[in-house]
Amino acid sequence: MFEKEIANGIAAASGGALTAAEVAAALEIPKESKLGDLALPCFKFARSLRKAPPVIAKELADAFVAPDIVERTEVSGGYLNFFFSARALCGRLAAYKDRDWSRAADGGDGNGRTVCIDFSSVNIAKPFHIGHLSTTVIGAALYRIFAYLGYKPVGINHLGDWGTQFGKLIVAVKKWSDIEEVRGKDEYFLNSLYVRYHKEAESDPTLDDEARAWFKRIEDGDKEATAYFDVFKEVTMRAVGKIYDRLKVKFDSYAGESFYNDKMQPCLDLLEEKGLLTLSDGAKVVRLDDWDMPPCLLVKADGATLYATRDIAAAYYRAKTYDFYKCLYVVAYQQNLHFKQLFKVLELMGFEKAADMEHVAFGMVSLEEGSMSTRSGRVVWLAEVLDKAVEKARQIIEEKNPGREDKDAIAESVGVGAVVFSALWNNRIKDIVFSFDKVLNFDGETAPYVQYTHARCASALRKGGEFDLEKADMDAICSEEGVDVVKCLLSFEDAVSAAAKTREPCMVTRYAVELAEKFNRFYIGHRIVSEDEGATNARLFLAHMVKMTLGAALGLIGINAPESM
Ligand code: ARG
Repeated sequence: MFEKEIANGIAAASGGALTAAEVAAALEIPKESKLGDLALPCFKFARSLRKAPPVIAKELADAFVAPDIVERTEVSGGYLNFFFSARALCGRLAAYKDRDWSRAADGGDGNGRTVCIDFSSVNIAKPFHIGHLSTTVIGAALYRIFAYLGYKPVGINHLGDWGTQFGKLIVAVKKWSDIEEVRGKDEYFLNSLYVRYHKEAESDPTLDDEARAWFKRIEDGDKEATAYFDVFKEVTMRAVGKIYDRLKVKFDSYAGESFYNDKMQPCLDLLEEKGLLTLSDGAKVVRLDDWDMPPCLLVKADGATLYATRDIAAAYYRAKTYDFYKCLYVVAYQQNLHFKQLFKVLELMGFEKAADMEHVAFGMVSLEEGSMSTRSGRVVWLAEVLDKAVEKARQIIEEKNPGREDKDAIAESVGVGAVVFSALWNNRIKDIVFSFDKVLNFDGETAPYVQYTHARCASALRKGGEFDLEKADMDAICSEEGVDVVKCLLSFEDAVSAAAKTREPCMVTRYAVELAEKFNRFYIGHRIVSEDEGATNARLFLAHMVKMTLGAALGLIGINAPESM
């Protein structure tokens, strides 16, 4: 924080020899706080300024007209260190008291640029399983983070709504159920038909022929086949919609794979024209040997198109429709090769935005051994994980606070929040082993811990009532623990920007835990509401800022912030 201001001052102190941008880029946060809040390593300028780093540091320090936040500077070897003034920091913080928490304090660097985010992208007729948790919550968090920074995010649910499996399902429904029954039941019923199909098809290969014929009818737009498909979609979307509501996730577009049925031919023509298509056993592929990749299969020998063909058409469609600045794909790392191939093919085609496509990969989520039995013995449905987390949260709340009325609502916030948090705690690429007990611990690095701290601030504010900054004695929050909280509060925007830049929502999650920890350390040593009016006003102000900032951080990652717990 305050890098820009300090860089401007240093650039001026250099008499124009250094630009503010290069100084800002060089500034570092020292590992130890006794070395200051920011440090400028002057080694980087030795060449251009033709001076020894300690000399540069000394000269800059002497000529530096410090802004109010810098209490003092110190030259240490080739470093110029800056120490912030606690009082000035409190003053800066006060300016944010009534800010708009829904957008970056400085408006952010988005400038309305569009970022397409392809996330969640569930498959029709399959229940939402735990493998879709990460893409959904990481994508949704990035969506909110980009919006906060002034970008225009476009959330795209690239539905898996095309493929031979729908022919199989029609056969299964016709044999063992009927369309009305399916419509009235849920996604699990649909899945059980699919499972049964596979079992029976092992001994009866004619089923596959029937399924192929039915899929062909879907492809040809046949009325009956389409009616079946529509019911599959209806049942799936109803179920998925409930989960999205619980996770507070929204999309701007549900254009899925089938949407591109009529949009692939122009792309295939272009590939042909550019001489990129090669025939291989009757199939059309783009060879990628020069980039050490297997060929990208685009049209099968029977004329059927593939997942990759649809993604090429989708890329062109999105570029034309949204004129995006970046197009992100929040998809598991298992699809690394798919996206590498896709982006390379697009580049070879001369697709203008090939360099602005990005695969935002993440690791696998699994459950701790024995923590849940599943219907199929293999797949873990997300709705069941959420229900179980809510159920456990309810038990805990029941123990802690048996008298409270809105237990259901709190249990839902805490249980769902704990699950969301667990998927947003680590760097994306890490595999996660999910444990109910760990994520619902109220004293760990968990959602309930942050939610509890938020509620603690809310409770202090209820007790203390309105506060008046004019009457606040800021010394009461300038103890070591207090200043730590103030500095942390002022670095919220940095955390959000860094999360956007690295596509790592965990930076916001970790920030929230850090702020909660720092505030709780302060809280243990200092009474918020006391006889001392000046101290009470300052500490209520601090509690207010912590509450609002935690609320904003939790909001960005999609977790409710309860007023009491
Ligand atoms: N439906 C796919 C799956 O569940 C993910 C789709 C990702 N998006 C894309 N444009 N390929 O694996």
